[in-house]
Amino acid sequence: MIILDQKNRVFTLHTKSTTYQIKADQYGVLLHTYYGPRVGTADLSRLIQYADRGFSPNPGEAIDDRTYSLDTLPQEYSAGGAGDFRLPSIQAELADGSRIVDLRYTGFEVRPGKYALEGLPAFFAREGEAETLVLTLEDAASGLTVELYYAVFEQYDLITRSVQVFNRGSAPVSLLQAASLCLDLQRGDLDLLTFNGRHAMERNLSRAPLRPGVQGVGSVRGASSHQHNPFIMLCEQDAGEDHGLCWGAMLLYSGNFDASVERSQFENSRLVMGIHPRHFCWTLEPGQSFTTPEAAMVCSPSGFGDMSRQFHRAIRTHLLRAPRAKLHKPVLINSWEAAYFKFDADKLVSLAQEGAKLGVDLFVLDDGWFGIRNDDCSGLGDWEVNGEKLSGGLASLIGRVQALGMGFGIWIEPEMVNENSNLYRAHPDWVLTPADRPRSRGRSQLVLDFTRRDVRDYIYESLKPVFAQPGLSYVKWDMNRSLAEVWSPALPAGRQGEVYHRFVLGVYEFAERLRQDFPHLLIEGCCGGGGRFDGGMLYYTPQIWCSDNTDAMDRLRIQYGTSFCYPVCTMGAHVSKVPNEQTGRVTPLETRGTVAMSGTFGYEMDLGRTTPEEKKMIKEQVRFFKEHYDLIQQGDYYRLSDPFTAPYTAWEQVSPDKTEALVSLVYNSHQANGPFRTLRMKGLDPNAVYWINGGELWPGDVLMAAGYPLPLFMGDYQSIQLYLKAKS
Ligand code: GLA
Repeated sequence: MIILDQKNRVFTLHTKSTTYQIKADQYGVLLHTYYGPRVGTADLSRLIQYADRGFSPNPGEAIDDRTYSLDTLPQEYSAGGAGDFRLPSIQAELADGSRIVDLRYTGFEVRPGKYALEGLPAFFAREGEAETLVLTLEDAASGLTVELYYAVFEQYDLITRSVQVFNRGSAPVSLLQAASLCLDLQRGDLDLLTFNGRHAMERNLSRAPLRPGVQGVGSVRGASSHQHNPFIMLCEQDAGEDHGLCWGAMLLYSGNFDASVERSQFENSRLVMGIHPRHFCWTLEPGQSFTTPEAAMVCSPSGFGDMSRQFHRAIRTHLLRAPRAKLHKPVLINSWEAAYFKFDADKLVSLAQEGAKLGVDLFVLDDGWFGIRNDDCSGLGDWEVNGEKLSGGLASLIGRVQALGMGFGIWIEPEMVNENSNLYRAHPDWVLTPADRPRSRGRSQLVLDFTRRDVRDYIYESLKPVFAQPGLSYVKWDMNRSLAEVWSPALPAGRQGEVYHRFVLGVYEFAERLRQDFPHLLIEGCCGGGGRFDGGMLYYTPQIWCSDNTDAMDRLRIQYGTSFCYPVCTMGAHVSKVPNEQTGRVTPLETRGTVAMSGTFGYEMDLGRTTPEEKKMIKEQVRFFKEHYDLIQQGDYYRLSDPFTAPYTAWEQVSPDKTEALVSLVYNSHQANGPFRTLRMKGLDPNAVYWINGGELWPGDVLMAAGYPLPLFMGDYQSIQLYLKAKS
């Protein structure tokens, strides 16, 4: 709900449990007055204190009022160069070479429904499901105008934001930064939570108190990255899973990003999130505008779990697009860890056959099916079937897989090229790097210039016959290197600062085209696992391969971190063989199944090499997953323990009506003569009585307050799943 107090120029955004408030003050400075638990509509600028502070200058309008300074006030969208020395949200070089942006409020508009962003991913809503507020600010001296967009999704406690910058002056302006979100909280005693890692170990949670000065995470790799996710949180220092005030902010962007927080001298915390200013410079000719990616915020007065569930619901309902996102997704078997580059059609069919016997729905042919591709040094860019491996062509292979009653999916990596490819030999100038300097290769490949429409068109047209293959129902879209030595011949020297962002826009355009032309295809995103696991890609690819690390124990940490923002139905997760290919660890098949089925679920191993007992267990895992699909994929998600500190990792999905729940638990390594443990569950109906795995009956209130006694196990990495069904 958007409440306007036009007299006092106060804008109050109410969600179910939170309130966000903005005020244009007497000088037109747009102040952020409050974001927290829901309160009334009173003007909360009374919270702001004014004092004469040394070395915090006073703007022209304040004349002799030495208590008024942009440097001390909570700003709604901080500008660089005009007396606020904290993190800027916008920086620009103007026609006279100055870098002064001084924004003042000029007007507002309220619109029904949700604003849309052309060419950019964004949450969507029908009218009645969201409301939009637009606030306009202007730098009078240059004509630079900024429109701040807010959409309020009341029932999810979600507020989305985007910013449009217009050059209404008469000379070009170089935009050096345009953040999507600025959030000034009038307190410094907060913790910062970020999700960090590396290839094959993504999104490990890190939590630390804010220290004075600037801290944060970001990426300048051209993708959102394995190293830091574009989702971060702030919280009260005693906040936890089930209590305390916290704020989460996600950026729907798949390229360079920055999320920085500054704890300032007077204990204000400013979060600024958006495209990374490093390498960024966008020329705005008079009359032109620039639209930032979207950011989305959830504030929860009751802890991390509630915040996550709100993000999950909002993402499932308003970001993942129908029809595919809403259908039951298939359990798949992927050829990668089973065959790598070494296969022929018979081998693939035999892999598929074993899956079909066990109830698997979809066979995915991973890397190696095209060009000359016997390893990762050649062939990328040549999207014709490798006739030596697949002599009968794709149609014949798909036919054979379909005859097994399975769907067929295929792997692509459209943005990349190997120098050893026909594409590169024909178009050496299509890469995103100057020809006259040494180039970094990543996985022996170069990056195609996806800022160029002609390059994208060529790749799209060469992949189109593949997308159009009858029987194809799934595409895995990979991206296997970071960008370096970035330069595009398609842009003049003065506009090279636009390349990274134009590359991402090119990726989005390609993805949208694929979605529009082939709406029946389920597209899974991938970037060497989870190097582009972000809200931007999720708009096009409703599931993303979570990590190249398929080790169940490592996955617990990765999926735990991922779950803070992203729902289970987006997390690609597969059971693979043991010893694990990445860690050498041996975990029980049961545990591997338990972990992978809290994701999109599939197998990535040669099922033909499993024992009859293992086959029986796999068949049961697939059956169980399908039986409880809605609960697992769409249920409310509760984290029951922290895999970094607890002796076990446990989590739970609860159906919205609380009549069903699935509790999953995996122990760390075993210790002799271990203690007795009980597990306290969450989110159940306290008045209901639940059957546990069809056996004992336990009251919901007892399971939540006192817990459930956990069995003692022998051996490392054991797991249990408890299916709870309320007695009617
Ligand atoms: C990346 C992906 C893997 C696999 C390989 C194929 O590493 O993350 O799942 O598809 O590429 O080369």
